[in-house]
Amino acid sequence: MKERNEAALVPQEEKDRQQGFMDEVASLGGGKYEIVTYGCQMNVRDSQTLAGLLEGMGYRPAARREEADLILFNTCCVRDNAERRVFGNVGHLQAQKKANPRLVVGVCGCMMQQEGVPEKLLKSSPFVDLVFGTGNLYKLPELLLSVLKERRRRVLVDQNPMAPIAEGLPASRHGGVQAFVNIMFGCDNFCSYCIVPYVRGRERSRAPEQILAEAEDLARQGVQEITLLGQNVNSYRWSDGTDFPTLLKRLDGVVPRLRFMTSHPKDLSDELIETMASGRSICKQLHLPVQSGSNAILQSMNRRYTAERYLELVRKLRAAMPDIGLSTDIIVGFPGETDDDFEATMELNRLVRFDSAYTFLYSKRQGTKAAAMENQVPEETMKERIYRLIAQQEAITQEKLRSMIGHELEVLVEGPSTRDENAYMGRTDAGITVNIEAQGLRPGDFALVSIASAGMNTLRGTVKCVRSR
Ligand code: SAH
Ligand code: SF4
Ligand code: F3S
Repeated sequence: MKERNEAALVPQEEKDRQQGFMDEVASLGGGKYEIVTYGCQMNVRDSQTLAGLLEGMGYRPAARREEADLILFNTCCVRDNAERRVFGNVGHLQAQKKANPRLVVGVCGCMMQQEGVPEKLLKSSPFVDLVFGTGNLYKLPELLLSVLKERRRRVLVDQNPMAPIAEGLPASRHGGVQAFVNIMFGCDNFCSYCIVPYVRGRERSRAPEQILAEAEDLARQGVQEITLLGQNVNSYRWSDGTDFPTLLKRLDGVVPRLRFMTSHPKDLSDELIETMASGRSICKQLHLPVQSGSNAILQSMNRRYTAERYLELVRKLRAAMPDIGLSTDIIVGFPGETDDDFEATMELNRLVRFDSAYTFLYSKRQGTKAAAMENQVPEETMKERIYRLIAQQEAITQEKLRSMIGHELEVLVEGPSTRDENAYMGRTDAGITVNIEAQGLRPGDFALVSIASAGMNTLRGTVKCVRSR
């Protein structure tokens, strides 16, 4: 029987139809494109699909924005600053569009799934040609063809929370050592502050065979590290009985390194911990968003765990994997957060000592439960709190990084360092970024690095020996 959260597929006839549109767009001569991506890894992965589709239609990446014949904004709306940036940056294109009326401007992604937002955007930016949502990605060929041929504006947003998934779409990943693979889409958790379930729909898992085939294909292309993606990977499920730990076991060893994100603490099972600890290729790294250290706030957030349960999970994880890299997300200033609630978050952070923490000011999202809550925390209070939390985390991160000086760590080389032309950049199994002083390393090399110093968030060292592909 089909599981409730199994993804339905876009039928083959529809994919063939889109292929026909692709061929037709390609016959128009193509051009240069730029995709501007906001938000999380889901959007990064979606942008690779968009790039793959565009490249299949004869488009090539533009070296500079001014050269582009097509610019796509893949948007995020998880916090309001993300939204403001999108409106600002789209607005900036008005001049370029005037200079080049043939320029196609498109906006897609999570923001376009919000009620009323496409309308608002089309009004404020009349030069936008193309708007589509997260469930319509695969229809880009059809939409683009009518924009190019009929020179008319196309808007297509599907509010279906169970929107079907198109398997087998091309993805442009431009080589690289690391790749993202979706294992599921959407979210059913409805944390009271969060807009994601509204813009990404219900939880839908991909078939294990499809995931395995994609991973094997990436391995053949030389990818060394795969990060499995889902808003809550722990609730992955397929009707043949495959759950997340089973899926991990099936993928273990396909590439040398396997990571995943994000895990919801309420669904982190002992079996997953055992699978991580015993896996050959599963990195000892976990992003486990805690959001708050106060039980009252956690309950109001609808997170369905307590601070005590979270601490117990951390204890189990470290007992099974002493060197595990742990990171988290924390929201400061959720409605009703008192000084005591915030102190509980500080205390939890002191107890856990995360390797890193992403801290966010609470941002009111229209349509979520928390938006209607009383006791919204004043901005000033939120800021005072977050500065204290950031300072505390910086001190912890520093102590942890410094404790690694003198150690030897294995680093997967990703490429040249962006800041220093005499160095390479890579990451350890636990997810720490390491800059390596060396010459002649190649992306994909595993280097044993002797750590010499620590920066704010990174380590630096010299190569002891290298294991090449
Ligand atoms: N599915 C993932 C990530 C979702 S968004 C998870 O559950 O962990 C990433 C982070 O953004 C969240 O973990 C949360 O800390 C933050 N976030 C989400 N909505 C927010 C809001 N309204 N205001 C501030 N931060 C928010
Ligand atoms: Fe948002 Fe919560 Fe779902 Fe994460 S688990 S995407 S925070 S609703
Ligand atoms: Fe943003 Fe959508 Fe991701 S709202 S955080 S891009 S799922």
